Amino acid sequence: MHSSEIAPPPAHDSRAFWLALAAFSVIGSLFMSEVLGLAGVSVVRGTKTLLDNVDWRVAEGERWVVLGPNGAGKSTLLQIAGARMHPTRGVAGILDEVMGAVDVFELRPRIGLASASLAGQIPELEKVLNVVVTASYGVTGRWREDYDRDDERRAFSLLEEWGVSTFFNRTFVSLSEGERKRVQIARALMSDPELLLLDEPGAGLDLAGREGLVRRLSELAADPLAPCTVLVTHHLEEVPPGFTHALLLRDGGVVAQGPIADVLTEENLSDTFGLPLSVTSNAGRYTATARN
Ligand SMILES: Nc1ncnc2c1ncn2[C@@H]1O[C@H](COP(=O)(O)OP(=O)(O)O)[C@@H](O)[C@H]1O
Ligand SMILES: [Mg+2]
Repeated sequence: MHSSEIAPPPAHDSRAFWLALAAFSVIGSLFMSEVLGLAGVSVVRGTKTLLDNVDWRVAEGERWVVLGPNGAGKSTLLQIAGARMHPTRGVAGILDEVMGAVDVFELRPRIGLASASLAGQIPELEKVLNVVVTASYGVTGRWREDYDRDDERRAFSLLEEWGVSTFFNRTFVSLSEGERKRVQIARALMSDPELLLLDEPGAGLDLAGREGLVRRLSELAADPLAPCTVLVTHHLEEVPPGFTHALLLRDGGVVAQGPIADVLTEENLSDTFGLPLSVTSNAGRYTATARN
């Protein structure tokens, strides 16, 4: 689904929704540090169940990795978490708000999102600095000339942090895949979000690009001022050291979730990817190979 599309909220005429909403509000007030609270979330399109009864709680300060094969529902889960899509069933609490009972246009600037579908909306000839600066206005494509100088300075320093400030005046399309990925993360951080969602930022990168990204994400994970982060990938090798939690998805259902070392086991990962895997971890880095 295109990220700018948003299905209308489903008609929550059932008492179950309002009971769940009330329960969420009560529970939510007990756990003020909760960033995401999904309860029984399903997404159905036609006859296909994209997400199947997902329960998921993410607290402030946590760094999550969401792993699963192609088509498992990872991007759908991120679209829900990013307030880009409504669940068909269940309740999605995001930053103390509840989807369906909040203006998503107020919620979205509090969430930084980097995904291929969002990158696809960036005009090809957009200058790199503008790709980042427009995030503070919630748009892609610079449409006015008088951006605040403070915004431009912030955008530039984010490009510096991600090692791509020398390209500030280049067109987005002229960058390498790896450089573009780093610009997208700088853009996602521009609005100083409380929640950072990264959908496969390692896709299409060469080895040096991937290793550079993993190192930077690991540094971000270690920064106590960095927002709560959810990273989606289907490569175990892309899990950055310092990430604290993992959720494994297969066919729209959760296989396992919790503290990363408990979740990234051979058994769970073999279940998730549907083949017997041999998993090793070394200094926070994981690798998986098919077991003979
Ligand atoms: N609008 C839709 N209608 C039907 N199926 C869809 C729709 N959008 C996505 N899907 C399917 O749902 C599944 C999950 O998609 P997605 O969340 O993108 O998976 P992932 O990101 O894990 O690869 C895929 O099989 C995809 O083809
Ligand atoms: Mg995806």
